[in-house]
Amino acid sequence: MKTLRHIQGSIGLVLFVLMISCNGGSKTQENMEGIQDTRPADPHSYAEPNKAVVTHLNWEASVDFESKVIEGVAHLSIETNGDTDELVLDNKGLQIMKVTLGAEENLTQFELGPIDQYLGSPIKIKIDGNTKLVNIYYKTDPQAEALQWLSPEQTSGGKLPFLFTQSQAILARSWVPIQDSPGIRFTYEAKVTVPSNLLALMSAENPQEKNDDGVYHFKMDKPIPAYLLALAVGDLTFEAIDERTGVYAEPDMIEKAAYEFAETGNMLEASEDLYGPYQWERYDLLVLPPSFPFGGMENPRLTFATPTILAGDRSLTSLVAHEMAHSWSGNLVTNATWNDFWLNEGFTVYFENRIMEEIYGRSYAEMLANLSLQDLKREIESLNDKGQAADTKLKLALKGRDPDDGMTSIAYDKGCFFLVALEEKVGRQAFDAFLRKYFEDNAFKSMDTESFIAYANEHLFQVNDIPVDSSLYNQWIYGEGLPESMPDITSERFLKVEKAASQWELGTPAKALETKDWSTHEWLHFIQQLPDKLSQHQMRELDEAFTFTHSGNAEILAAWFVHAIRNEYEPAYGPLQTFLIEVGRRKFLMPLYGELVKTEKGRFMAERIYEQARPNYHFVSVNSIDNLLGRN
Ligand code: BES
Ligand code: ZN
Repeated sequence: MKTLRHIQGSIGLVLFVLMISCNGGSKTQENMEGIQDTRPADPHSYAEPNKAVVTHLNWEASVDFESKVIEGVAHLSIETNGDTDELVLDNKGLQIMKVTLGAEENLTQFELGPIDQYLGSPIKIKIDGNTKLVNIYYKTDPQAEALQWLSPEQTSGGKLPFLFTQSQAILARSWVPIQDSPGIRFTYEAKVTVPSNLLALMSAENPQEKNDDGVYHFKMDKPIPAYLLALAVGDLTFEAIDERTGVYAEPDMIEKAAYEFAETGNMLEASEDLYGPYQWERYDLLVLPPSFPFGGMENPRLTFATPTILAGDRSLTSLVAHEMAHSWSGNLVTNATWNDFWLNEGFTVYFENRIMEEIYGRSYAEMLANLSLQDLKREIESLNDKGQAADTKLKLALKGRDPDDGMTSIAYDKGCFFLVALEEKVGRQAFDAFLRKYFEDNAFKSMDTESFIAYANEHLFQVNDIPVDSSLYNQWIYGEGLPESMPDITSERFLKVEKAASQWELGTPAKALETKDWSTHEWLHFIQQLPDKLSQHQMRELDEAFTFTHSGNAEILAAWFVHAIRNEYEPAYGPLQTFLIEVGRRKFLMPLYGELVKTEKGRFMAERIYEQARPNYHFVSVNSIDNLLGRN
């Protein structure tokens, strides 16, 4: 390959060699002769990286809250195969003003291809084999799908507006013209101008306080895929947890956040002890307004988190362990395409559980694993019911579909239990050694499922003198449902909860149950395993004993509201409505709206609440709830 790759320090060199050798390295030879790039084709990107690939983004942008537009220029450093005449980028709804080449900024031609509902439309830019720099002048659309613009009333402080991005899976292209494929990595730097009373933060080296001119500079000198590009702008303040970790939040939330996340430094040390050095220098958290559509998002150096994990008692911090674990599984070793999503999430749930075990002990981790198993069983049942049994395989087939369809408990929990099954096969010590090596050997590379299998055959089975067990792969990766080799996941603590629950059903008053040492997870299990049908008397008795309807814990609230809807328990309707209007976290919204639409009365209520709530939700949640309510 007549490559013009800039070598960005030694990482660049290593990266280049590794990029060629990953993904089933057997085609390396062809690659050197300039025939084919060996990256597996990404069905969710228009990019043609074998012709020309982006290696660095220099982004200059200004953020305008009035018009809800980011206007900017993306200076893209590229490497070409030497004889291509086009660079292909992803785009969704961007308005491209002009494109120039080189530092001299010579105007060049570009063309937008046809629009696909999920992928958007390609930008095809005329270049030549010697082009090294392409400058794209553009504006985002006010409806850009990654962006959520919040009015002051939608924030906790209530005085200043807020903007945040959510790029995963394929929404980066709605705010930056880029090659939006998880198999393509680039470094970046940025200069971002915002109103001078707001702080800007990115998935990069970040400022810790506001400045007077509202101009902020960012640098990410490790290569990352586009889905990890992130920006947040708001009335934000910083508090250190320790030397390497800290938290950003609106001023009125910062103390609560700092208390909740006090264990972050310990988690980071536990992670390093398990799977090797943290590669991103700092690990900070950003607490977003409640409309953030996810629990957390692993933006490098700066995890974005929902405020619904601020329970006041540190009981929901496994989410921090999860996003932190992505600093290895996902951000270092990245799924090559969204069909391999389990490589990101399954590894991360496994890793999360190991961190929690280190810090809170085995019995705690067992409860988390048990809750995961219940989620997984429910998910398999529901996918089967919907005629989507093929989506219960770890290896997904998402071509022509929204990659969001792959965001089910399969990738997360079936993925995790597959790794537990592998662990049981070779023993924990050998498995940990394997994972450490996996992260080291494949750092800053992408990995697809087949390359993982090849890697495991060599470094897990052969190394340990264990015959390769391909039935494991067939059951877990290419097979549907729950495999025969499903590990046994029992939790002693949950057995006690189940005992208490059955005592109650047999007539012991709720107030007399032995619950005083229960953690949030025990309560969650208690609520989730209650029978579907409960009388008004039973609902009231539970509520009087345990005040579920007014719990300050969002997980408990959401689980309880499901029963309140099923059993038409009206005292919970007010708090339910408030919750649905304030909180935009999809994981909570889907089961609640899903339960509501099961009856005519409930559907009526859902429609009425959604009318009011919809403007508060990010596109990701709007899209899902629109689908659920049949609005699309
Ligand atoms: N990376 C995901 C969020 C994501 C996945 C966004 C796919 C868009 C597409 C993040 O790490 C995640 O898994 N978040 C979970 C939390 C978790 C503890 C399972 C969430 O938001 O619920
Ligand atoms: Zn995750």
